[in-house]
Amino acid sequence: MNNKKYTVTAALPYANGPLHLGHVAGVYLPADIFVRFLRMKGEDVAFVCASDEHGAAITLRAKKEGTSPQAIVDKYHTINKKAFEDFQIGFDIYSRTSNAIHHQTASDYFKKLNDKGSFIKKTTEQYYDPEFNQFLADRYITGTCPKCQNEGAYGDQCEKCGSALSPTELINPASNLSGKTPVLKETSHWFLPMDQHETWLREWIQNGTLNGEQQHDPKTWRNQVVGQCMSWIDGGLQPRAMTRDLDWGVKVPVEGADGKVLYVWLDAPIGYISATKEWAETAGKNWEDYWTGDAELIHFIGKDNIVFHAIIFPILLKEHGDYVLPTNVPAYEFLNLEGDKFSTSRNWAVWLHEFIANHPDKIDELKYVLTSIAPESKDAEFTWKEFKDRVNNELADILGNFMNRAVVLTHKYYDGIVPPLSEDGKKEYAGYIEAIAEMPGNMERNIRAYKLRQAQADVMDLARLGNKFFAETEPWKLFKTEPEKVKDILNITLQIAANISILLRPFLPKKAEKIGQILNFNTNNALTWDQAGGIALLQSGHQINKSEILVQKIDDSLVEDEVARLEASKSARAEQNGPPQKDTVNFDDFVKMDIRVGEILEAEKVPKADKLLKLTVDTGIDKRTVVSGIAEHYQPEDVIGKKVSILMNLAPRKIRGVESHGMILMAEDSEGKLCFVSPEKPFNAGGEIR
Ligand code: MF3
Ligand code: ZN
Repeated sequence: MNNKKYTVTAALPYANGPLHLGHVAGVYLPADIFVRFLRMKGEDVAFVCASDEHGAAITLRAKKEGTSPQAIVDKYHTINKKAFEDFQIGFDIYSRTSNAIHHQTASDYFKKLNDKGSFIKKTTEQYYDPEFNQFLADRYITGTCPKCQNEGAYGDQCEKCGSALSPTELINPASNLSGKTPVLKETSHWFLPMDQHETWLREWIQNGTLNGEQQHDPKTWRNQVVGQCMSWIDGGLQPRAMTRDLDWGVKVPVEGADGKVLYVWLDAPIGYISATKEWAETAGKNWEDYWTGDAELIHFIGKDNIVFHAIIFPILLKEHGDYVLPTNVPAYEFLNLEGDKFSTSRNWAVWLHEFIANHPDKIDELKYVLTSIAPESKDAEFTWKEFKDRVNNELADILGNFMNRAVVLTHKYYDGIVPPLSEDGKKEYAGYIEAIAEMPGNMERNIRAYKLRQAQADVMDLARLGNKFFAETEPWKLFKTEPEKVKDILNITLQIAANISILLRPFLPKKAEKIGQILNFNTNNALTWDQAGGIALLQSGHQINKSEILVQKIDDSLVEDEVARLEASKSARAEQNGPPQKDTVNFDDFVKMDIRVGEILEAEKVPKADKLLKLTVDTGIDKRTVVSGIAEHYQPEDVIGKKVSILMNLAPRKIRGVESHGMILMAEDSEGKLCFVSPEKPFNAGGEIR
């Protein structure tokens, strides 16, 4: 008996927002397909996931929503857990990192490594926001990425290029609390000396060898994963702090560490272990079997998670010593939506729970499309039009149509009883029979290489093959002249249908089950992967059920409605008239600005500058020159005598050769129209605006 165990993980989603189709296409659906396949191969699998409930992602979200971190994680854990269930992502457990068992597991893990000397305790200067009395770790600080110049990089990571960063590497760092440039302040933390692990990591990632033994086959690792890791290692690994000055998370289980918690990227992957333990307890399993010996550990993740799963967590696993290292880390690129990035803040997203609520009968349709376009090797895009086209032209026209023809003809000619296949028929149609026989093996190779797009296309090819068989043999014509042949043809097409119902199951479990029902076959899904490929799945004499519509076609109106819904959420923001409010400033900052009422005394066009007027302004204390970009809105003669608002103490600058001393404040509407901001009563120049 095969005793090997698999642990398949899907990245723990932060419980700071709902899941969208990008998450589904690039982590959860492929993981689910892979696991369903393994189970059909008879493998023993633990499929674990959980909500990631710690870290700055959560506390900042709570601050934004004006609530507590606990309320945030409760809300989104509930929404996401239900969405996974409704979408039939078949986790053995969907846990959460706030559970006691996780705090205990993560805490023990840290202690064990600390006792072994895996960490180095160091006092260093870290960014600090004096106004909020808080150290600024991770997402509390943003700035420009030193690697790719992305201006919105976080203190621990640039989500654009995937680099792991530390706050001190950011260019122009700013606190996400006060918006100000932070100051440096001393604090002590436990660092993982990643630099000491470079040699074995290099060997392990490139060649798959660990302590001289072959641990995985590097050819099965995606190029992007190996590439990202190697460029990271080649750039030189730095010691990385594994603790944080925060009060939300797993407390650092060491004396003298008050006010410190474990770094979320230390605790979250340990969540895979805690979730396995929790599941094993109720399932009557021994969790360690899934993390030790020859167990295979496979992490499905998005590309922004690569360094954490292929470098940092493996170091922690190796240091711990008892556990296996991942045998693969299939990472996905990003999915875009209708020409733009998915964005929570701009509400540009199709949320999984909303899709399910609006289209409860289209779960497998969505799975089909998401796997067809899965961002396996490059970024991909979801559009509602393509959703409709693929469902109608592929699922309905190819698969649905094939099934329907096979079943309807069997009823028409044989009262729904499977006809026999003759020896002559086997010879005549040997090419088809061979194609059926090769299919499970071909698909298996693709699935084991994480080429799920291709594997799903393979099973669709089986339906195409069935349609081609009908088109070539035309049994509806032959029935009068060569009825014996029609028996062979229908037998083979029904065997194709039966094969599809098995091989489709990892991808579209509901449709596969439906096909099984129509064929009155494999009712309890008892058949395994390896039983597919043959032409004796349905015995002659077997009674099948009546045809039913397998795939409902999608109307244009669905596409229109969904696109309108997206556009509406976008314009709902535009209707607020103007961009979102800027970050908070303090009163101290505000009073630094010297704004007064000025009177425009003279105005003339600036030569060769269509937009600029050179103004002479009486400010009450002086008469000064200000260059203003209003020439497209006002003629010089229109503005003379106007009382306007002027920012006095803006640093002087030369504009087209003219030195400007201050700025005239203008109101601007959403169409770009400009007007002066003037006192509502007659008023003397020089009045202060506060
Ligand atoms: N919450 C992280 C994210 O959404 C993923 C965590 S994966 C785990 O990017 F390793 F921490 F579990
Ligand atoms: Zn970057």
